[in-house]
Amino acid sequence: MTASGAGGHLDGHGTRLRGLGALVSGAGSSGEFLGTGAATAVLFAAQGAVTGVLDVSPERAAATCHLIERQGGTGIALTADIADQESVRAAVEKFVAAAGRLDVVVNNTGVTTGEWDQVFAVNAKGAMLVSEAAHPHLVRSPAASVVNVSSIAAIRGFGAGAYAASKGAVLALTTDHAYRWGPDGIRVNCLVPGHLNTPIGSQGGAGARETRRRANLLGTEGTAWDLAWAALFLAGPESRWITGAILPVDAGTTMATGLGMFGRLTQQ
Ligand SMILES: NC(=O)c1ccc[n+]([C@@H]2O[C@H](COP(=O)([O-])OP(=O)(O)OC[C@H]3O[C@@H](n4cnc5c(N)ncnc54)[C@H](O)[C@@H]3O)[C@@H](O)[C@H]2O)c1
Repeated sequence: MTASGAGGHLDGHGTRLRGLGALVSGAGSSGEFLGTGAATAVLFAAQGAVTGVLDVSPERAAATCHLIERQGGTGIALTADIADQESVRAAVEKFVAAAGRLDVVVNNTGVTTGEWDQVFAVNAKGAMLVSEAAHPHLVRSPAASVVNVSSIAAIRGFGAGAYAASKGAVLALTTDHAYRWGPDGIRVNCLVPGHLNTPIGSQGGAGARETRRRANLLGTEGTAWDLAWAALFLAGPESRWITGAILPVDAGTTMATGLGMFGRLTQQ
């Protein structure tokens, strides 16, 4: 892959999603510094999926599609506010009309700031709306998979307010949809990203970036590609017997106590 981020040295091309239609929400981008949705969309397309790039910004959706095409893949730009049911339904139908099928959904959209109701409308209700709009198509797929994206802010205190609570709702949504849709053959799992270096997680400059790197057990920086490869596993056939799983992608950040990390964070 040529876009920036760890994993840039890996060859993301393959056939693990060949013949499938995948839709990734919040997959827009601007420039080469990719968020997790954009990286996931680029990787899925490189693995053979016709990939829907859904974003509230048409320019950002088009930019990711451009990256996909540069890699030789097929991306379909979709503009929708995922908090709006009609807009979501139209985007899903547009994707199915173009791709002919829908097998994989990644509910990646997330906003960290805003009024409580708006944060919930995007992060929690938005994921529900996309999954529910996709459901009639997913039931027809022999390889149906939904990958939700929560946050470690949902399971560890971070002072993130509505963001934390809305991401907790994404965990509960995962459990509920996995239960309800298991008999339909639809797997529903959830990724729980840690402090990745992405546009959302990059605030605070070089000092904050270094602190985030040291705040996990490996002491290495995570990027959008780390989330994308985990999403590929949950989307693809290798995880065929996994549903309802909550998978941290955080280099062990949530495995340590504050006291346990104190020495590592304060050493010069
Ligand atoms: N980066 C981190 O450190 C981190 C940590 C934990 C969880 N996450 C989660 O990962 C996901 C992606 O983070 P990122 O850093 O890649 O974000 P990002 O800002 O790069 O991408 C989010 C995208 O969502 C789009 N969007 C915003 N509101 C929308 C709406 N109403 N409808 C449709 N699209 C909308 C934006 O235009 C943007 O392109 C989020 O769910 C975030 O909560 C990130």
